[in-house]
Amino acid sequence: MSTSRTDLNYEQRFNDSVDKLMGHGCYNVELIEDFYRIFLAKSDVVANLFAHTNMSAQKTMLHDSLETLIDFSRTKEISPALEKLAQAHGKRGKNVPTYLFDVWLDSLMEALYLRDNSFTDKDELAWRLTLAPGITYVKFICKK
Ligand code: HEM
Repeated sequence: MSTSRTDLNYEQRFNDSVDKLMGHGCYNVELIEDFYRIFLAKSDVVANLFAHTNMSAQKTMLHDSLETLIDFSRTKEISPALEKLAQAHGKRGKNVPTYLFDVWLDSLMEALYLRDNSFTDKDELAWRLTLAPGITYVKFICKK
């Protein structure tokens, strides 16, 4: 039996998954709401950082910034949107401790499992691989 391309190619696997979960340019409101519920419940440090945030505005921004991270993974070119994202979390912005980016990513993975019944550990790896370059960049700037 031959192994299909999607079994081996994580980029293809990611593209299929992202189309399913965030396709057609529309916002997956349930996914983003699940994500914030899970993320804010992870620790008081996270909840306190968002204490004065207008969460409905924050939710549309998350969708757009996911696109920013995905775009960086494809182009490896630092866009103005990625630069702005990094600055917003860095020392002159919200001064987010870098360990929280792992918590952020774990929370997103939990939300993906909740919103897609057929989400597998290979899909999880495909998302983690795709988002890793952008997250690495943001963490790098946050430490400066
Ligand atoms: C790579 C992962 C992340 C993405 C894509 C992301 C996305 C965003 C975006 C798009 C904004 C709005 C920035 C602006 O105003 O220009 C934002 C703000 C913010 N983010 Fe993140 N974020 C990430 C990680 C984190 C982490 C780990 C924390 C830690 C708790 C965090 C806490 C915040 C806070 C507190 C704000 C400001 C909210 C406000 O305006 O009151 N973010 N984030």
